Amino acid sequence: MIKSSLKKGKIMITDRQLKEKWFKFFEKHGFKKIEGFSIIPENDPTVLFTTAGMHPLVPYLLGEKHPAGDKIYDVQRCIRTSDIDSVGDGSHLTFFEMLGNWTLGKCDKKEMIKLSFEFLTSPEYLGLDKNRLAVTVFAGNDVAPKDEEAFQAWKECGIKEIFFTSQDNWWALGGGVGPCGPDSEMFYDTGKEKCGKDCSPSCDCGKYLEIWNDVFMQYVVKKAGERAQKLERPNIDTGMGLERTVAILNGAKSVYDSGCLKRVIDFINQNATVKYDDGEAATRSYRIITDHLRSSTFILGDARGVVPSNVGQGYILRRFIRRAVNCSRNIGFNSDLFADIVDIYVDEYGQDYQDIKQNRQFIKDELLKEVAKFSKAIEEGHKEFNKVISGIERHKEFASKTGEKVENVISGKSAFRLYDTFGFPLELTEELAKERGYQVDREGFENMFKEHQEKSRQATAGMFKGGLADTSKQSAHLHTATHLLLAALQHFYGKNVVQKGSNITPERLRFDFNLDHKMTAEEIKAVENFVNDAIKKEIPVTCQVMSLEQAKESGAHGTFTNKYGEEVKVYSIGEVSKEICGGPHAENTKELHHFKIIKEESSSSGIRRIKAVLD
Ligand code: SER
Repeated sequence: MIKSSLKKGKIMITDRQLKEKWFKFFEKHGFKKIEGFSIIPENDPTVLFTTAGMHPLVPYLLGEKHPAGDKIYDVQRCIRTSDIDSVGDGSHLTFFEMLGNWTLGKCDKKEMIKLSFEFLTSPEYLGLDKNRLAVTVFAGNDVAPKDEEAFQAWKECGIKEIFFTSQDNWWALGGGVGPCGPDSEMFYDTGKEKCGKDCSPSCDCGKYLEIWNDVFMQYVVKKAGERAQKLERPNIDTGMGLERTVAILNGAKSVYDSGCLKRVIDFINQNATVKYDDGEAATRSYRIITDHLRSSTFILGDARGVVPSNVGQGYILRRFIRRAVNCSRNIGFNSDLFADIVDIYVDEYGQDYQDIKQNRQFIKDELLKEVAKFSKAIEEGHKEFNKVISGIERHKEFASKTGEKVENVISGKSAFRLYDTFGFPLELTEELAKERGYQVDREGFENMFKEHQEKSRQATAGMFKGGLADTSKQSAHLHTATHLLLAALQHFYGKNVVQKGSNITPERLRFDFNLDHKMTAEEIKAVENFVNDAIKKEIPVTCQVMSLEQAKESGAHGTFTNKYGEEVKVYSIGEVSKEICGGPHAENTKELHHFKIIKEESSSSGIRRIKAVLD
């Protein structure tokens, strides 16, 4: 698909080499490296996963000072479930690594575009032919004018293909709330024929492949539904898709045909009965397995200990695993070999992401547990299928007496129930139906499916409605309460108690920690009293910026060390608590009023979960 612009015999670039080029380039231009964040956002109820490098940086994009300064870069692991239906083509992934950089408090578009151009075309860096590059520029809307500045800057670089759009060139977070603004996206021309005379980067015919985005964050939406207003301190946020760029540089025909993803495809190919190149459907199944198992490895491997379930991140994880099992059935691949695929991923990424290395066994165990559970569900589904057929047969027998005609058709409703409750893919139902001389009402199934999708889409959109709670006062209070809660738990159960997960909505905090038993009513009371005592003592909350080493020496607590940059913020609550944390927090514990635990329950094996409110 992609015609390489590289000369024959050139050595292939690896993911690591591209990262190193990014690091070297932005270091040279005065940017400082920060560590990427966890794949599961901490204290942010607005999304299930970190979807872009900028996501965890929102407080800094809204004006808070970053400890590493105002020019920073990183590599961020991201999950975007919005792309799930496109996975299987050559370029979409649910998990990907994003190379990012930020200029905080300043928005010099010309400078950033020049840097982007230099990185893309300079032989020392990517060495791409500028004639294979196309860019898009913001066309203007009722909030902001046409981006003449960006247009001029690209023109000066000698880019010939410059397209204008208003819709596709306005970047905002999923829920629309938060920093936003016009962007300028960079595309690689794959060499494919134009799909028509209006062919542009906005169509998805595959001619233009987006690789990098410069977002000019000059605006902010403070509340859902409100109009964007100018940001006092604008920023630049850029993000480059690592896998796509590596594929282009290697002249690979898709993101699955180079590097680690290719190793996984090859492994499946050696062990499956249907081969990778045996038609479009087979290729698609291979890619879905490869992509979904990488996402699953990162979710299961996260320090926050998410396991498959029917809600939140656990639900998405379950969907990834089950979809991978279904695709494996399509190509005759044994799902027990998923554990070997996890090994390929952990060997590749373990060096950069310690979590997945430490949790290698846990990832494999949980993955295979879910595969077994799903196989059982499929078995149950077979029973259910037989019941559906018997029901129709009985109906037929009865109808023969009355003269009513009953067709050998499984209704859309039954097929959807098999799909939704028993995880039966429609194709499987159709296959079994055929064996029994039956047909499936596909249209009815599809209608039910659409209806269901609409409902769940609305439910997911609802998640964003609360806006960026991590910047609100109430969530700052709950954040401080979370620190006090950990201090209380350590006071009663010992210092080996650590945070296994944290999530804050505007209404409550949720905190996961290791403990080998259910807390008794007395224990819960004691923990509440400990926190309420600290609140009554009206202790000021203070913050100091120091190096990670200094922070550790000072005894500050911090569980997720690999997400911190060299300089960290340490929040102290008198002598009660000292934790490395990004904030924001209350200024004094008295603002918290009163702390109450509303639920204590098991989260997973050896992990307890507390939900608490401030009232
Ligand atoms: N936030 C932008 C994106 O996700 C650039 O990092 O594309």
